[in-house]
Amino acid sequence: MSEAGSPTAEPGREGPPAPVAAAAAPPEGTRPAAVELRGVTKIYHAGTPREAVAIRDVSFTIPDLPDRGEICTFLGPSGCGKSTVLRMVAGLAPQFPPTSGSVHVLGREVIGPGADRGMVFQDYTSFDNRTVLANVTFGLECEGVPRHRREVEGREWIERVGLDPTRDALKYPHELSGGMRQRVAIARTLALKPRIILMDEPFGALDPATRLDMQDLLVRLWREVEATVLFVTHSVEEAVYLGDRVFVMATTPGRIASDLRMPAADGPARETQIEPWFHEQVNKLQAELERIEAAAARPDGTRGR
Ligand SMILES: Nc1ncnc2c1ncn2[C@@H]1O[C@H](COP(=O)(O)OP(=O)(O)OP(=O)(O)O)[C@@H](O)[C@H]1O
Ligand SMILES: [Mg+2]
Repeated sequence: MSEAGSPTAEPGREGPPAPVAAAAAPPEGTRPAAVELRGVTKIYHAGTPREAVAIRDVSFTIPDLPDRGEICTFLGPSGCGKSTVLRMVAGLAPQFPPTSGSVHVLGREVIGPGADRGMVFQDYTSFDNRTVLANVTFGLECEGVPRHRREVEGREWIERVGLDPTRDALKYPHELSGGMRQRVAIARTLALKPRIILMDEPFGALDPATRLDMQDLLVRLWREVEATVLFVTHSVEEAVYLGDRVFVMATTPGRIASDLRMPAADGPARETQIEPWFHEQVNKLQAELERIEAAAARPDGTRGR
């Protein structure tokens, strides 16, 4: 894939991500983890008066569950390094490369962006001068997929994300609502069939009702594409509803403070999120978050109650 066609290309941002060469394949007979961070630290301006530790010693393993994938949500206060972790997995500068530690995706060391990972950002990133269809088929075009095939696939994806393949396909991003634009961004990412989907507060700017619709859409598409999803959010409800697993992060330095399993939420977002068990989980997670933030605020960093 050409560098501009990388699923992690960010429309409207400076320059395309660096091209990637293939790293060594994992040994046969083992199923490598979908994502593995080992002791990842990122320090900006190291050794200068502006030195800033974004994340320190972050390690986690997300297995590559066959025929299913998993949704892992990342929750934590502003500045704790959620975007840093996600962009580290995406291989996007300046977060990537780490100052120390390593990032592996599907058994290969990450050395830059790659077609195995697709990213959806918060700010409705689309190419403003391209129609919905041309946005959705952008990556396929870069991959050299012939025009007819990519337009057929593009229209299928437009329909899958709940837009109208006839009416909406030829609109431009400025003619769409925030929710519609985010559907376009999701379609553009998923059209490339990445095994790992990275989402950085994708629904953060949407109104509550649209947000619930988008959560339903994501769960439906995730079941279809069977990918591993890393999803950053500020919403405890969203973290519980979407997450099979929730990583709670803390600040100063940014780190993983808790790694919690969540019960599977099978029903639609609106119905599930008013159920008693759901409230119980939200309250538990909220309490955990507050405990972690209180501990981080103590000068000695102790976790005493
Ligand atoms: N390019 C940079 N140079 C210096 N420091 C940076 C840079 N990018 C991020 N940081 C710092 O790294 C830390 C983690 O930032 P990051 O954007 O990952 O946080 P976040 O958890 O995503 O926050 P938010 O919830 O507000 O999006 C912050 O303290 C931030 O100031
Ligand atoms: Mg962020």
